[in-house]
Amino acid sequence: MIEEKEYKARREKLIEKLDEHSISILFSAEPKSRSNDTEYPYRQNSNFYYLTGFKEDSAAIVIVKKKSKAKTYLFVAKKEPALELWTGKRLGVEGAKEIFSFDEVFEYETLQTFFRENIVEKQTLYYDFSHNCEAHNSIVSLCKNFYAYKNLAKKIAKARLIKSSAEIAIIRKALSITQEAHHRAMSVVPKLQYEYELQAEIEYIFKKNGAYSDAYTSIVASGNAANTLHYISNDKAIKKGELLLIDAGCEYDYYSSDITRTIPADGLFSQAQKELYSLVLDVEKEIISMIKPGVMRSALHTKSEELLCEGMVRLGILKGKVKKLLKEKKHKAFYPHGIGHWMGLDVHDEALYKNKKAKEIPLQEGMVLTIEPGIYLDEENETVPQKYKGIGIRIEDDILVTSQGCENLSKNIMKEIKDIESLGKKK
Ligand code: GLY
Ligand code: MN
Ligand code: MN
Repeated sequence: MIEEKEYKARREKLIEKLDEHSISILFSAEPKSRSNDTEYPYRQNSNFYYLTGFKEDSAAIVIVKKKSKAKTYLFVAKKEPALELWTGKRLGVEGAKEIFSFDEVFEYETLQTFFRENIVEKQTLYYDFSHNCEAHNSIVSLCKNFYAYKNLAKKIAKARLIKSSAEIAIIRKALSITQEAHHRAMSVVPKLQYEYELQAEIEYIFKKNGAYSDAYTSIVASGNAANTLHYISNDKAIKKGELLLIDAGCEYDYYSSDITRTIPADGLFSQAQKELYSLVLDVEKEIISMIKPGVMRSALHTKSEELLCEGMVRLGILKGKVKKLLKEKKHKAFYPHGIGHWMGLDVHDEALYKNKKAKEIPLQEGMVLTIEPGIYLDEENETVPQKYKGIGIRIEDDILVTSQGCENLSKNIMKEIKDIESLGKKK
């Protein structure tokens, strides 16, 4: 639970970074149509949520800064009983005033008028360059004579890189639910026939524990499907002897978890599966052990490429000298993605990996990132040794950078071969 005083402090910190004569606007997320007149469940824009904790649509934040003084405005939908009958209660202006410590709270309908009255040319307009809705576009065009336009989303993304203790507590909670889900998957898998059954077991645990949603669509990929990185159809029959790559994490109170485990369909790894799995697991542990403030994420990636390439040579998947293979990027055929990404309100928190001068941002205390090496050996790839064909393995954990090193926030989600096998055997 994040308190209003933390949201307020976030707004104040942002204000310090804004140009002296500026006006900033940020809109809530648009409701999304699914088909005809049905909608996806509403989810607030992560940046908007980061600054407010406000969960309704048809809302906007405006910050007017003059010299070092700033005023903050929240615009919210008015209470309308006839609409609320269908879509639920709104806080309305009075309700919002009680909870949120903005200087003023106004009705959303008055936003355009407010802007017209507060426009002073020769100031900077901050807005989210990627936002695209009618109200937003018309405000941006009202400000066509401003002298500078800057991306507010980038500024917020930068603040979001460092998590507070309240945010970390929520990520821990999300991970405790995701842990229960993955352990359940490990123990029930020998009894199930279809990938979607396993998906249902996992997502049942999410919902049962109050995790409103998945942080992303679950991947439950059996056998060769694991070699499709974004496999989400989850509709195949699970065959005996195959591995299942399960990339699933819940979102709890708006914060993500992002965990991959690869487990045997019938509870036991074969020898060939063990060889590949141990390689990925060793690399994952080695990379996690490198994490501390000052280290570059790109160094972690490069090291993971080296270690996986060496391992693949050892196992006969790649042939030749490691250095030359790396130079020629031969390993990319089997390890095509990055080592990990920032995680927080979004499963992929905005990709701010470089600062303004295009210099890479080093790891800092309070960052949360995933570490997720993998090897993907498609059954159609003729260069892959027969015994490894059709195997795809990824192991993914969520890591907090601490002052001295790091903490693996998902360390209790089993990943040792013997532990996974013993869970699979129990029932
Ligand atoms: N689940 C998405 C990812 O691992 O990045
Ligand atoms: Mn993942
Ligand atoms: Mn990930």
